[in-house]
Amino acid sequence: MELPRIEPYKIKMVEPVNFSTREDRERWIREADYNLFNLKSDQVIVDLLTDSGTGAMSQQQWAEMMLGDEAYAGAASYFKLKEAVSEILGFPFFLPTHQGRAAENVLFQTLLGHDAPDQVIPGNSHFDTTKGHIEFRHAKPLDVTIAEAFDTTLEHPFKGNLDLGRLEAALREYGPARIPLVLVTVTCNSSGGQPVSLENLRGVRELCSRHGVRLFLDAARFAENAYFIKTREPGCADRSVREIVREMFSLADGFTMSAKKDGIVNIGGLLGFRDEELFRRCCTFNIVFEGYITYGGLAGRDLGALAQGLRESTEFDYLEARVGQVAHLGRRLRELDIPVQWPIGGHAVFVDAKKFLPHIPQAEYPAQLLGVELYLEAGVRGVEIGTLLADRDPVTREDRYPALELLRLAIPRRVYNLQHMEYIAAGLKNVWDRRDSIKRGFGIAWEAPIMRHFTVRLHRL
Ligand code: F0G
Repeated sequence: MELPRIEPYKIKMVEPVNFSTREDRERWIREADYNLFNLKSDQVIVDLLTDSGTGAMSQQQWAEMMLGDEAYAGAASYFKLKEAVSEILGFPFFLPTHQGRAAENVLFQTLLGHDAPDQVIPGNSHFDTTKGHIEFRHAKPLDVTIAEAFDTTLEHPFKGNLDLGRLEAALREYGPARIPLVLVTVTCNSSGGQPVSLENLRGVRELCSRHGVRLFLDAARFAENAYFIKTREPGCADRSVREIVREMFSLADGFTMSAKKDGIVNIGGLLGFRDEELFRRCCTFNIVFEGYITYGGLAGRDLGALAQGLRESTEFDYLEARVGQVAHLGRRLRELDIPVQWPIGGHAVFVDAKKFLPHIPQAEYPAQLLGVELYLEAGVRGVEIGTLLADRDPVTREDRYPALELLRLAIPRRVYNLQHMEYIAAGLKNVWDRRDSIKRGFGIAWEAPIMRHFTVRLHRL
């Protein structure tokens, strides 16, 4: 009999789960104004709100936490991180930041200033905080993801790819004067944790070089992206994950990274550069917003844990178990006929709420509704990636209806096991079986002007 592949680690420390009844959850979600962000974590049984900062660190990472020294400047752990950034990512200059959006803040403040209404930033479905940082400075994020990404049923190995024709048209139309950078998110969170191929990245690089525009990666899930390249892209099967990572980064002029994902730390971010001059300019804002340039809002110990995390997340066996667990959940849901974004992404399963609840109009937030129903059913907390997240149009103030209305079930790294995946699938199957009895969605009782999904208050219609 063939031995199944198993996780390349065992569990040494556990965190208890609080169980609850449906009645408890009815009360809690009402008190939370039907916003899953307002729940307390002990009101949740399986927490799939995010894979960000929720992973389990290894014993080596915890050892680095103990070894990290807490010097304000030049801590030994900073130099460990510098070595890892140089060795694994191939970047000479970097700044630590307290998380990914902080790196975005430093970069966009340096490149855009406070008010840059004529600036355009093309990319593949920018993440919401990235979009927030761009729009906050009155610039425009331009989504040039390939059209295939928006059909959840279509089989395509690299749904994170950019449409090179549309990118080239944007580069022609706006030019380097109006495009400070092209931003490629690997894997692309907003389109379903979908990877970008090396071939596509090389194409983007070529276009950027031809038009004299910088190319940055949003590298939060760079290792998962490299895993997909190794397992899906022709000619890459025999290359190591590390080699692929090096090539991905070698194509970029810089990167932002939320280290809370593939850095497998609970807090941290990075901003990397090839250009020393841009690095110097960003140092000023890093000091103002984050902290001195060798700690950037983190404790010395965090830097050591991150250095180790970058090494662990680029191990093939780890990635195989990690991406395999997410795929297992996705396949189970598909077997149960539940509509999911296909193929399954690296960090999450995205349930297609438009197909799950076709009778609920987008104006009633069907993905949010599905998230609340799954919580009531099984105490599983996902997150809406749909109309609430898309925010209103900054000019017309109308709801923006995205092509996809998704419930994201993000799997934390090294936290849950296969039995948890079965539990999630059973919970969702029960909602699926009673989907016709779910009649109405939500209205908005209160919302913030930007990034409203975090704090929105909803009422049942
Ligand atoms: N870029 C991407 C692609 C992300 O997914 C995130 C965060 C960020 C940037 C911002 O990083 O949270 O460290 O400030 N994504 C989390 C998520 C929050 O749930 O997908 P951060």
